[in-house]
Amino acid sequence: MAPRKLAAGNWKMNGDLASLDQVDALVTAAAGAGCDVLICPPALLVYAMATRVGTGELLVGGQDCHAKASGAHTGDIAAAQLRDVGATHVILGHSERRADHAETDAIVAAKAEAAHAAGLVAIICLGETEAERDAGSTLDVIAAQLAGSVPEGATAANTVIAYEPVWAIGTGRTPTVDQIAEVHALLRDHLAARLDDGADVALLYGGSVKPGNAAEIFAIPHVDGALVGGASLKAGDFAPIIAALDAA
Ligand code: PGA
Repeated sequence: MAPRKLAAGNWKMNGDLASLDQVDALVTAAAGAGCDVLICPPALLVYAMATRVGTGELLVGGQDCHAKASGAHTGDIAAAQLRDVGATHVILGHSERRADHAETDAIVAAKAEAAHAAGLVAIICLGETEAERDAGSTLDVIAAQLAGSVPEGATAANTVIAYEPVWAIGTGRTPTVDQIAEVHALLRDHLAARLDDGADVALLYGGSVKPGNAAEIFAIPHVDGALVGGASLKAGDFAPIIAALDAA
């Protein structure tokens, strides 16, 4: 079994009910694609988007969940609640959450366990800062984040890893092909060593993926898809990225 290709859009804190007008074009783009296509809108829009998508080809996910199944956690959302309203995936440990909400690897691993228990696929994000890359510690940082953020019980069916260099997110800067290849090879090696089906875990690249650079990125060994921020907000930008992944 080869890893399942995935084009995932992360809308972050963007969009409103009117943005759901993008869905029809996204469903069309997803329908013919030989890869999974996922949009993770703000939590408030998950139910409306999932309802609009129906049983179509477009998957809907959350951007975070709590580590606990339920309880006194004001403002938080449980994995089972995301599942209940139609989500299939949840992004966890995005660098913006690690920075804004002080999420550690241990917290991310606990959230991923909660996601798995609720039947969601956890998209676990990792990535070095610019200072870490400049210091030559990228591979050590990634290996440590991977070891600490992927929980027991992870499998190729319930876990996706997204490599997102912090300095490449929303900046228009991307690593070189060799830099992405080096990190993805490390991720593949470490996952294959740790998990029975680690060779089949989908590995996404994220950080300034655009229609213009998608094909080059998808040609890199062990890049099985992308986690896309800005270019996922408009179907007209995301559709060519989906097509590039389909063709890769
Ligand atoms: P970007 O964001 O595509 O806007 O760089 C990617 C991400 O943060 O997932």
